[in-house]
Amino acid sequence: MLPVSSMPIQVSNPQVSPDKVLEIQGLYKQFAIGRWGRRRIVRAVNDFNLSLSRGEVVALVGESGSGKTTVARVIARLYKPTAGTIRLNGTPVPEKLSRDDLLAFRRQVQMIFQDPFSSLNPLHSVRYTLSRPLKIHRLAAGREVEERVKDMLERCGLTPPELYIDKLPHELSGGQRQRVGIARALSVGPALILADEPTSMLDVSIRLDIMNLMLDLKDEEGLSYLFITHDLAGAHYVADRIAIMYASYLVELGPSDDVINEPLHPYTELLKSAAPKPESGLKPERISTTYDIPDLTNLPPGCPFWPRCPYAEDRCRGEVPQLREIEPGRFTRCVLK
Ligand SMILES: Nc1ncnc2c1ncn2[C@@H]1O[C@H](COP(=O)(O)OP(=O)(O)O)[C@@H](O)[C@H]1O
Ligand SMILES: [Mg+2]
Repeated sequence: MLPVSSMPIQVSNPQVSPDKVLEIQGLYKQFAIGRWGRRRIVRAVNDFNLSLSRGEVVALVGESGSGKTTVARVIARLYKPTAGTIRLNGTPVPEKLSRDDLLAFRRQVQMIFQDPFSSLNPLHSVRYTLSRPLKIHRLAAGREVEERVKDMLERCGLTPPELYIDKLPHELSGGQRQRVGIARALSVGPALILADEPTSMLDVSIRLDIMNLMLDLKDEEGLSYLFITHDLAGAHYVADRIAIMYASYLVELGPSDDVINEPLHPYTELLKSAAPKPESGLKPERISTTYDIPDLTNLPPGCPFWPRCPYAEDRCRGEVPQLREIEPGRFTRCVLK
């Protein structure tokens, strides 16, 4: 190592690139559960690294319990990271944010939730739900608020807006509620949207409509999405890149077509083989009946996937593999590649 005095002074971080909206480096999130004496640590997210460019859609795919929602909630500042750095537009998000900083942060980063019914207050009209963020962020006042709300409704496919603006959530269909959820997220003009399974609760027939709406709005507004889903086909449809998570680890990352057509990680292969096929009436098949969801308080040593992996060798049981770049832009956390 160089003596301190002769170390070059770093004037800029070469890893920060101007087109990156989000950069996550070395992210870990642990939860302590249980009472004293029986305290256990849930290692929900381990060694997570991911960047999103402006205008890019990255799908985060994995089975239930793999840590996807936790990643989104840490990015959204609903949870504090246990370790790691998150940069927004090149600037690290500090550990402590003042009220004003948090408000400014929320203008940049918005979430869309899985269940539009529970994420909308049942007592509040669409008008109230959509005008509140405009007022909180001081983006509109007086008559302009109503104009902006109507404009957002129209852009989210709720036309004519007069038909929807006075409705309560229970008076809307699931798809319409999710359109209100999308309008609410977009109303503050964010750069990044974290969409946590936004179509999972919706009828299959309207999932595509909602995905298309999100893609149209992305193009109009130059947004970036982290689109969380457990549905590989949906991920392929919306995303430029797909990131696969298994048991708290990112195990594969690459351009959507490559990940789908030529998976690098055995877990991606398994997901692909279990994806609903048109000939099976689009009913998802159960991935495995012999294996439970991995226990994140007690992962096996080595690769987290080896107990389920058809190719597992002795060396897979040693250490957790690193996420390695096998081809330009294609990463896998598997020692067998
Ligand atoms: N607030 C919390 N407290 C304790 N454990 C949590 C909390 N949130 C999530 N977990 C645990 O973290 C793991 C990952 O959960 P989650 O991020 O919700 O996964 P996914 O969204 O992929 O289904 C699970 O084991 C879950 O039980
Ligand atoms: Mg989740």
